[in-house]
Amino acid sequence: MADESQNRYGALAARVYHLDKPIGHSFGDVEFYGDVLSAIAGPVFEPAVGSGRVLIPLLERGINISGSDPSNEMLDVCRAECARRGLETTLSVGTFESIPQDLELSAVIIPAGSIQLLTDPVRVQHVFARVRSALCDGGQFVFDLDPLSTLAQAEAPARCWTDGADTLTMTSALERTDYAAQTTVSQLRYELWRNGELQHTELDRFALRFWGTNEVVLALEAAGFAHVELIADYTPGRQVTADTVTTTVIATKSL
Ligand SMILES: C[S@@+](CC[C@H](N)C(=O)[O-])C[C@H]1O[C@@H](n2cnc3c(N)ncnc32)[C@H](O)[C@@H]1O
Repeated sequence: MADESQNRYGALAARVYHLDKPIGHSFGDVEFYGDVLSAIAGPVFEPAVGSGRVLIPLLERGINISGSDPSNEMLDVCRAECARRGLETTLSVGTFESIPQDLELSAVIIPAGSIQLLTDPVRVQHVFARVRSALCDGGQFVFDLDPLSTLAQAEAPARCWTDGADTLTMTSALERTDYAAQTTVSQLRYELWRNGELQHTELDRFALRFWGTNEVVLALEAAGFAHVELIADYTPGRQVTADTVTTTVIATKSL
């Protein structure tokens, strides 16, 4: 049975995400994706679009991009921020599995390591095949991965944000690491405090799967992608090494 509290990005999580990483907040990804996509004419799709941190600056660069997300709370932030800027696009409720198949997409992008939210590699393989079938010939699938070493990382410290009279906190506790499955599950506890009193709390069981670079290339090739390129830390031409923080994968569909 599906775990309703897993990776759900509820109201407090969406508020914290937007406070911590507002629209345009970049790890180097916003500029990198903008540069890759500005060379592309056709439509682009971003599943797991979230608050629009990346999508909105891309729309502002004139890129024809739409997106989906399973979290209505994250989509609400995205819709409000698009409206505030007078930007129009299509935003729908959906998961990685529901990438639209009728748009002849020129690119599908998944920044911020969000593909790692799918912990079953068989489901990921299915998503890779769905992405490939949604792309036009020559279309590109561009996504980011954290290093495999993240599996062994210590817990993040407690975090705190102030928003007017509200204080929001997030604490993370590692529930388990499965080195065989390359997965972690953490309990993310979000709290909203006002005048020293707890108003609301939310639990997100945050599950991730970390990928080896070779296995992701093999999985993409098995899904029918002809050419797979790996780029280190948003620097075109930089090889992935043991010190790489973010690996960007660019898989191209060709007949
Ligand atoms: C880290 S946020 C990334 C948001 C945005 N792409 C960015 O780069 O800022 C991850 C997003 O993945 C979404 N998500 C969680 N599970 C998902 C799934 N199975 N399919 C698609 N999206 C999912 C969450 O709702 C959340 O908005």
